[in-house]
Parts: sequence; structure tokens; C-alpha cells
Amino acid sequence: MPETFRVGLLGHGTVGSAFEALLGERADAIEPITGTRPEISGVLTRSRSSFEEVLAGSDLIVELMGGLEPAREYVLQAMRAGKHVVSANKQLLSQHGEELWAAAREHGVQLRFEGAVAGVVPVIRVLQESLAGARIERVHGIVNGTTNYILSEMAATGISYEQALGQAQGLGYAEADPTDDVTGKDAAAKMAILARLAFSTPVHIDQVRYEGIELITADDMAYARDLGLGLKLIGTAERAGDGINVRVHPAFLYAAHPLASVHGPFNAVTVESDAITEITLSGPGAGGPQTASAVLGDVISAMIPPATTPEATEELPIVEDVESAFYIHLEVADRPGVLAQIAEILGLQGVSVKSVVQEGLGADARLVMVLHPLLESRFYAALRMIGQLDFMRSPPRAIRVIDEEFV
Ligand SMILES: NC(=O)c1ccc[n+]([C@@H]2O[C@H](COP(=O)([O-])OP(=O)(O)OC[C@H]3O[C@@H](n4cnc5c(N)ncnc54)[C@H](OP(=O)(O)O)[C@@H]3O)[C@@H](O)[C@H]2O)c1
Repeated sequence: MPETFRVGLLGHGTVGSAFEALLGERADAIEPITGTRPEISGVLTRSRSSFEEVLAGSDLIVELMGGLEPAREYVLQAMRAGKHVVSANKQLLSQHGEELWAAAREHGVQLRFEGAVAGVVPVIRVLQESLAGARIERVHGIVNGTTNYILSEMAATGISYEQALGQAQGLGYAEADPTDDVTGKDAAAKMAILARLAFSTPVHIDQVRYEGIELITADDMAYARDLGLGLKLIGTAERAGDGINVRVHPAFLYAAHPLASVHGPFNAVTVESDAITEITLSGPGAGGPQTASAVLGDVISAMIPPATTPEATEELPIVEDVESAFYIHLEVADRPGVLAQIAEILGLQGVSVKSVVQEGLGADARLVMVLHPLLESRFYAALRMIGQLDFMRSPPRAIRVIDEEFV
């Protein structure tokens, strides 16, 4: 194997430039995993280099130009030249996927595209590899971060669709021309790709029915809130009779639904199959550095033979003492000064109390507290001291609390 692995980069915009930066940062860490050091060997933009030059000098092509042509032609030419290709181009794959996958098979190269659907959420890999043996019944999810941000803001603050869209554009979550996102077309392209993988049948974007969020009003959101419902732009690909149905539309969800808690520019995809029940994957749905991370993962996969677990490259210590938040449940004699003594012990160990509930139980009382995160060693030191107090009616009970708040 050559000492360097040459990556030709087509496109140097939001994702392309983030990809080049990430590859530079991670090259030292990738070399021991793959046996070769990846480097950018050429970059193509409208004003930089030529495709022929980039192709000739590379072992693998990363296509981050977007659009249909010349991206399609370049990807085909690269595969014909025996080079693996990594792309994040959902429009290309949802319209010309069959032609491109056939070319990859014919030329014995990989065409990887994790970044094309749900940003960094590894749903392509999960469908193609982890769940390759499962008969999938349904894939549904929130696959467009822009619309999810807009709907989340409308729900949280009561602002109009137009105001939320303006906010999304200001934060860089929506493009100057947001048509593909807000009409559901972007999500439709992603659902066509997911359906193709889930059901092993060709699915073109033209076969996906889609509706967008442009007609949603602040009133819809207010009523939904009163009814305990949240509104999301949901993509669904499912078996229907002998065939499949693939669609994108706004839909209300009850609060307990796994997709209801996905807020802001996040994406989430739920895969359902009798064999696995249900798996939900979620994470950032777009963004330069995030998508670049998915693209780099694909490049590394293409660099190493499949199904190998590389040698461990690190020797990281196992850290035993970590921070956790705790719930504690204490049964105590109901007499003056009990709470003060417990508070003193907690204070000495630096434990800070988030909430307390006290309940009388005849001559006894029950104290339930939720504590802010602290080192477990300090918490257990405090708990041991509390357990020795003479007014304790039973050993104290403690359960960890995961108090992370998801955006
Ligand atoms: N942005 C995201 O968060 C995101 C997330 C997931 C997937 N993606 C996908 O990733 C791809 C790239 O998106 P992006 O946001 O990085 O796009 P972008 O910022 O518009 O960058 C596109 C790049 O491609 C180059 N390019 C376009 N057409 C070209 C042509 N005909 N010849 C040579 N160079 C050409 C542009 O060159 P110039 O600089 O000369 O114009 C630019 O450098 C798209 O397929 C997109 O759907 C993006």
C-alpha cells in the first residue's frame, strides 16, 4: 500500500471546506487505523483545478459539489477509473441512484453516502450493514433540520412561520432560497434513499409524495399544544399491501412518541422491524463540520477492507470516579433538626440539592431529594454518613438521575 492515500475533493463550500479541515486534523489518528495517511491531493471548484487533474492524482473521490450535473458525470467517471467515491448529494442519489450503484457494482468500487441523509446520524450504515438481515417494515423520521428548527421555534414561542423562517436564515439553518427544505423536497430525496435501502427496491424522488410546512400557522401550533401534541415534518417509508409507500408531510405527534422530543435542527430516524422492534437514531441533521464527519467516516471505511476491527491505537485509562446526579430516598424519624443534620453532611461533601420533597408517615417522615451532579465518591461518602445517623429508619436508597437536557 502507498504511504499516503490521496483524496480528490470535488467542491469546497460549506461541507467541502469543513471536510478538508477535519481530514487535516484527524490524519494522524487515521493513519494507524488504515495503514495509510489520507491527504487532500486536489480540490475542484468552478475556479480551481480541473476534474481530470483531480481524478488523475487521487485514490478516492469525495463529491461535495451538489446538483445533478456535472456531479453525476464526475462520479461515474471516477468509478469507471476504479476509484471509490464518497458523496453527500441526496438529490443526485434520489434521481440517479440506480445508475450510480450499478456502475459501482460493475467497477468493483464503493459508493458511500452517509452524509446524504440525516447529516451525521449513521442511518445509512445501520440500514446497509447492522440491519442487513432484518425485514424492515417501516422507516420514519425527521430528516430535515431546517423545518424541524422552524416548527420547534413556532411551538416554543408562538411566532409565525415567516418569523421562524427568518430566524432560521439568520442562524444559517436555512439557505437564502429555502424552497427545497420548506416544501419537503429535501426530505423527500432523503426518504427515497432510505426506502431504497430499507426495501431493496428502486425508489425515485418522483415516487415520493411530499407536502411542506409553508401553510402551518401559529394557531395550528397553539391548538396542538393544548391537546398535548407536537407538530413535525415526518418522512415515512413503509410496506403497504404488496408494495411500499413513501411520503413526507407535517404530522401531529403525541408527547411520548420517540420523534416528539427531537427539537431544533436535529434529525432522528426510527426503523421498525419485527426482528428488532424499533431503533431510533438521532443527532445533528446538517452543518459543515457535522456532515464532514459523516463524509470522513465513509472515507475511512473505504480505505480499510470491510469487516475488520482495527488494532487498538490508544491505551486509555478507565476512569472510575465520574460525576452523576442522584435521587435519594430517606426514611427518618419525624423530629426537629433532622433535615438540618442531613443538609450539613451534604454541604460538607459539596453536595448541592436541586429539589426536596418531605412527606409525613405518622411518627416517621420520608425525604426525597434530587441532587445536582457531583463526583460519585463524594456522594457515597455523604450517603455513608447519612446512613449512620440515629434517626434513620432504614438504609438510604440512591438512584442516579440523567439530567441532561436535550435541545
Ligand atoms: N450544507 C450542509 O449542511 C449539507 C448537509 C448534508 C449534505 N449536504 C450536501 O453536500 C453537498 C455540498 O453542499 P454545500 O452546502 O457544501 O454546498 P456549497 O457550499 O454550495 O459548495 C459547493 C461547492 O461545489 C463547487 N461547485 C459547484 N458546482 C461546481 C461545478 N460545476 N464545477 C466545479 N465546482 C463546483 C462550488 O464551487 P465554487 O466555490 O467555485 O462555487 C463550491 O465550492 C450537496 O450535495 C449538499 O446537498 C450539505
